[in-house]
Amino acid sequence: MELKGSSYCSSFPDNFLFGTASSSYQFEGDILADGKGLSNWDNFTHSSGNILDGSNGDIAVDHYHLYLEDIDLMEKLSVNSFRFSISWARILPKGRFGNVNMAGIDHCSKCIDALLRKGIQPFVTLTHYDVPQELEERYGAWLSPKIRIDFQYYADICFKFLGNRVKYWVTFNEPNVVAIRGYRSGIYPPSRCSRSYGNCSKGNSEKEPLIAAHNMILCHAAAVNVYRTKYQKEQKGRIGIVMNSVWYEPFSNSSEDKLAAERAQSFYMNWFLDPIMFGKYPEEMHRLLGPLLPVFSKKDLECMSNSLDFIGINHYTSFYSKDCMYSYCESGAAGVIKSEGYALRTAIRNGALIGEPTEIDWLYVYPQGMEKIVTYIKDRYNNTPMFITENGVGTTSYIRNDVKRVEYMSSYLDSLATAIRKGADVRGYFAWALLDNFEWIYGFTIRFGLYHVDFHTLKRTPRLSAAWYKEFIETSKSIQ
Ligand code: NOJ
Repeated sequence: MELKGSSYCSSFPDNFLFGTASSSYQFEGDILADGKGLSNWDNFTHSSGNILDGSNGDIAVDHYHLYLEDIDLMEKLSVNSFRFSISWARILPKGRFGNVNMAGIDHCSKCIDALLRKGIQPFVTLTHYDVPQELEERYGAWLSPKIRIDFQYYADICFKFLGNRVKYWVTFNEPNVVAIRGYRSGIYPPSRCSRSYGNCSKGNSEKEPLIAAHNMILCHAAAVNVYRTKYQKEQKGRIGIVMNSVWYEPFSNSSEDKLAAERAQSFYMNWFLDPIMFGKYPEEMHRLLGPLLPVFSKKDLECMSNSLDFIGINHYTSFYSKDCMYSYCESGAAGVIKSEGYALRTAIRNGALIGEPTEIDWLYVYPQGMEKIVTYIKDRYNNTPMFITENGVGTTSYIRNDVKRVEYMSSYLDSLATAIRKGADVRGYFAWALLDNFEWIYGFTIRFGLYHVDFHTLKRTPRLSAAWYKEFIETSKSIQ
């Protein structure tokens, strides 16, 4: 097999983590096993009309029971890390209002031990979109400051029981996506938005994403503080946050469109990273949102500043950004225009696409975006250590011979290697995903796996990309 990109393998530093990523709801299944409570996603997928193919994660790809087999697959891939998330409702079925579910902890413990036996580092996320449904019902989860007490309690339990073996913790996966899709467009739970749209219930698309984000930032900081004060010294791990990171390419060379791209980034990714790193929201948000933007207290700021050891980057796609503040932008994307700093996000410039389209409506293959976003984060956040915590491409077809995925990964890894050679401190790369799995509102209609999964028999079969990734990793390690 021709190994594209091998000339760049040597750019990956020693101890670089090569892995695959997953999340509990998308992979595990058995949603009531061993005393687990229901999560907001269990609830959401069981309400009709929310998921494209009417499916849910009740079985997902049964990773809960097949984890040992899956870890064998990882070993075959030669990865040295696995990114997964803990289901909060497995550990605390009713949040802090009920018991700690020791059976849930035991399960996570066994997974971690099995990974370590094979020399695979666990890279563990505390919440990947899911929250115990109990907290949603009691006080509106992310909309209430009470969630901070719950999240801190949950994080503390995870560190206490699992932290002696986990060297990489992530507080949140893509809180920006949770805030936008849960509270602005309402297409994710808790389905809140201002307009009547699908199953979207009452909300306020202007204010609520900001409140939810504010509470998530404070939850992140609270968890990091617990880790730093009670555990980090002894357990010697690192803790960070994972953001969905789109590269916004200015629509034209005009300074207006360049500023629009900056605003889009500020309203998307920097929205969380700026407060966590610098203790304040991006300047553009202050200017455009004024009093709508929640305020951090002095006490919050003490707890927040510099509250991360690394930045996780989930990068898949890029968009053009066009100024809509002072010039006319086509309608149809009003929600996007407003909340991303009056910048229109589009894949098309004067009839030309930003990259090659894929079978997925939001995903364009633009490998340069990888180098650009990594460099942007490096420059803005003082070259804080970074991990590419997700990257990959989905298809709607079954194909075993997934040449397009190999080309995608190879070109994005090349682009990442360039950023590293130019000085970016990137310490790992996780392919999304090990297996085909439950792709949120798209159900089982989109497949991201290096391994194909037959959703009836649950049989896993390697695709071409699995063999390619293995060879890429092995070549890279032999050059290091
Ligand atoms: C990012 C999310 O973290 C993950 O859950 C999702 O499956 C991938 N994007 C692909 O859409």
